[in-house]
Amino acid sequence: MSGFVTLKTEGMSTEEAYRLIVGCVTPRPVAWITTQDESGRVNAAPFSSYNYVAHSPPMLAVNIGSRKGELKDTARNIVETREFVVNVATEATLELMHASGADYPPEIGEPETLGIELAPSTVVRPPRIPATPIQMECRLEHVLPLGRGLNTLYIGEVVAFHLSEAIFNGRHIDAVAMRPIARLGGPYYAGLGEIFHRPMLQAPPV
Ligand SMILES: Cc1cc2nc3c(=O)[nH]c(=O)nc-3n(C[C@H](O)[C@H](O)[C@H](O)COP(=O)(O)O)c2cc1C
Repeated sequence: MSGFVTLKTEGMSTEEAYRLIVGCVTPRPVAWITTQDESGRVNAAPFSSYNYVAHSPPMLAVNIGSRKGELKDTARNIVETREFVVNVATEATLELMHASGADYPPEIGEPETLGIELAPSTVVRPPRIPATPIQMECRLEHVLPLGRGLNTLYIGEVVAFHLSEAIFNGRHIDAVAMRPIARLGGPYYAGLGEIFHRPMLQAPPV
């Protein structure tokens, strides 16, 4: 059909495939993940290849790529300790979240270096980032190597939600007040645009 460029993926370079997939799957929420190594050093880094994948119990999945053939600090800490915290990145935390995505060596903890305030978690050991309105404490459930070995999917069960009273009324989470940040392709982020209201067509799952 005219007006479209069709690109088959067989033989496609890793770089091109990455550029296309992150441009096609947008907007993506950003999980700002805190972990701890076995000595207790806290690590923080952003991940947008991320979503919820189950609600009974609630589960989150994040795809962490390898770096020069090695596990990133977040992935290594998750495998070693089987615990992590997903802090929901927002407009207010965009700059610190983005800065924590730089390639710091394992002995450098981003929270300490960048001055990211931490608060204790309740069920898992890695602390959470109270500047974000939502933090989800997670316990690792599954590790799924994907494709040609560059990607691994880490699936965790949420064992505690921390919800700021500024965005949670005891039942619903106010997405507008939360101001979540989304990752687009390339060096772009976005905030929430216009909000469209439509009635629910099915009862929410119980
Ligand atoms: C907004 C944003 C989203 C990112 N998403 C991912 C992702 O989904 N998977 C991934 O492997 N790296 C992702 N990165 C890159 C990691 O954050 C980066 O490699 C970081 O240095 C990893 O830190 P760590 O070694 O402390 O775990 C993302 C970076 C940014 C800024």
